[in-house]
Amino acid sequence: MKKLIVLATLALSPVFSAQEMVDKPVQSYQTAQYQARKKAFVDNLLSKMTLDEKIGQMNLPTSGDFTTGMAQSSDIGKKVEQGLVGGLFNIKGADKIKAVQKVAVEKSRLKIPMIFGMDVIHGYETTFPIPLGLAASWDMNLVQQSARVAAREAAFDGINWTFSPMVDISREPRWGRVSEGSGEDPYLGSEISKNMVYGYQGKDLANGTNILACVKHFALYGAGESGRDYNTVDMSHVRMFNEYFPPYKAAVDAGVASVMASFNEVDGVPATGNRWLQTEVLRNQWKFKGFVVTDYTGINEMVDHGMGDLQQVSALALKAGVDMDMVGEGFLTTLKKSLSEGKVTQAEIDMAARRILEAKYDLGLFDNPYKHGDAKLAAKEVYNLENRNIARSVAAQSMVLLKNENQVLPLKKSGTVAVIGPLVNNSMNMAGTWSVATKHSASVNLMQGLQANYGKDVKFLSAKGANIDYDAKLEEIYAAHGKKTDRDSRSKEELLKEAVDVANKADVIVLAIGESAEMSGESSSRSEITIPQSQVDLLNELKKTGKPIAMILFTGRPLALTNVKDMPDAILNAWFPGSEAGNAIADVIFGKVNPSGKLPMTFPRSLGQVPIYYNAKNTGRPLDQKLTDKCEYQRFRSNYMDECNTPLYAFGYGLSYTRFNYSDISISNANPKGNQTVQASVTVTNSGNYDGAEVVQLYIRDMVGSITRPVKELKGFQKIFLKKGESKKVTFDITPESLKFYNGDLKYDWESGEFDIMIGTSSDEVKHSKINWTK
Ligand code: BGC
Repeated sequence: MKKLIVLATLALSPVFSAQEMVDKPVQSYQTAQYQARKKAFVDNLLSKMTLDEKIGQMNLPTSGDFTTGMAQSSDIGKKVEQGLVGGLFNIKGADKIKAVQKVAVEKSRLKIPMIFGMDVIHGYETTFPIPLGLAASWDMNLVQQSARVAAREAAFDGINWTFSPMVDISREPRWGRVSEGSGEDPYLGSEISKNMVYGYQGKDLANGTNILACVKHFALYGAGESGRDYNTVDMSHVRMFNEYFPPYKAAVDAGVASVMASFNEVDGVPATGNRWLQTEVLRNQWKFKGFVVTDYTGINEMVDHGMGDLQQVSALALKAGVDMDMVGEGFLTTLKKSLSEGKVTQAEIDMAARRILEAKYDLGLFDNPYKHGDAKLAAKEVYNLENRNIARSVAAQSMVLLKNENQVLPLKKSGTVAVIGPLVNNSMNMAGTWSVATKHSASVNLMQGLQANYGKDVKFLSAKGANIDYDAKLEEIYAAHGKKTDRDSRSKEELLKEAVDVANKADVIVLAIGESAEMSGESSSRSEITIPQSQVDLLNELKKTGKPIAMILFTGRPLALTNVKDMPDAILNAWFPGSEAGNAIADVIFGKVNPSGKLPMTFPRSLGQVPIYYNAKNTGRPLDQKLTDKCEYQRFRSNYMDECNTPLYAFGYGLSYTRFNYSDISISNANPKGNQTVQASVTVTNSGNYDGAEVVQLYIRDMVGSITRPVKELKGFQKIFLKKGESKKVTFDITPESLKFYNGDLKYDWESGEFDIMIGTSSDEVKHSKINWTK
């Protein structure tokens, strides 16, 4: 088995060597003979299967109470024996999984192995930053590698299918699930989507350490009205194809093995029962060859959507193109009847069963059903130091420096530091949401990280300062899934006093505030996206001490920080950094790692601006740029009387301890024709006092179109490392591919005309150049 190369340092160089990075879909490594063998095998198997057994393959229960000892006696155990279960999820541990597989391959009539799924979202036991944080690294090597480590750990523990990547574009910070995705941009989202799939699936799905990926939630789940989870979606097809579909399509192009349907409706039909989506777009247009699974009880929920009774909606889902039913047993309990009544066809059932059997074949399960899961290997390979070091490096690369006045950061490695905040001693909340397999109690919290790395030279004092929220009931909701916030029973005044006393003894304050882990994630929509008042009051009190404040922000979503941003000298957005949180934060705030993260989602000034995103349309009455920059109101232009048009922190924004200067753009050809390639280059110079990494971003604006076009769109980025004083020329190759969009007829093409080429450090700080491209 190939070992990953681990970085000894935390520098930027890719952790994968070139040959280990995957850049092709796993299917492209499969020969025609392999495909023929697979087809023959599955044809033969299907010919032996009863109707019940076929429908059984399409059934995906959650393990519930299924444990080793109960394998034979539990309800699921019986169903496995009867061949009525295709896969199982939420079961953890190599031995437990083996016991279930044994029932399937020894007791069921046709001995068909099962697949074992889990939400391995940002790591397995070794946990990486939440996906929104990972996206902020803009480092595709790290993205792919985090998925690779997650796949290996999960596979050693018996899992061979993950419900990831989640690629739902969202412009809605109220929606808690923005934490699980890559933010607002279709280009960045697509790059991440593809690299996650490559990381999970590798080159060979049957090698025992690669696992099936499942891109979700198809489609448009991030566009629910008012940011309320599971809510209605309604949007134009032009917007779907140009702005929301690309990351799903990128996963399909990368050969993703499975797709999960979303809970929301699309064009008035729930995605789970939407034939246009699951068959016309996904299979006919995008040529998806894998299987579609519903989300948790997605079929049953169509009853509440108002689409009919369970039999009706189950038939609707099958006919739409769904192959596997997660948890709800709609298929299991109604499809036979629907077939006898002519409401579904045998061919539709056969096709769904076939797709699931093909995935099992690709995993090599018919050769060896036990290849994923080896308790001895798992003990050695899961959550080992090697993986934790990678997680630490990734976490440090994902942090975004939002503000750093008076060079408060990096901190001096001497003196006394007051470490204050409701979560500074809380390991349970470091991994963030969707951390099913995380070893929470072992996660390095902030105090532990600081003490372990700098405790010899620096005196650290700590205080809680405030509870997460004044409202105890709300805080209980915020502490879901066992992620206790350790609410302090002392009064607000007592907590504040202790914090101020501690601060007064220190040279500098490190104040960690923001959200607890489960304030974002599924079913965690918020109607306010500010830091809770208890913590704002804490910041206010500490400000009065006059000590410099470096604020560490824990958050799973963009927050409106307007009411707090002026108080701290520095703000470092740490997201939820994962298993190595405390170590990674220590690395960044003491300067071992120079922050290089850039925001993958806009931070608004206030909730009233939402949705606010960089790739917006110009409108017919745009506010004059100078007034926009000065935040001045103009009547009869598109703006607010009481708020600026600009966000607090734009997409692509993020500071460094050093400074990067950009030269003007040089263009190889300002009047290209047809399929030519144009080089757009800038020279970037590190003119500050630290070595550091910079994400150089390319944006393009199509000045005139047959439909209105965004004011800019990300079309490329390169993360470069520059030593202090060093300069590098960064070149982007631009081809007509970068200019294409879905037009009013949903035809994907480009149009001749003028293009504004922008390169810069952030979506709102770019150099400009023009080209005129004719067909
Ligand atoms: C979520 C999915 C997840 C599934 C299985 C659902 O509630 O929406 O993202 O994969 O549960 O745990």
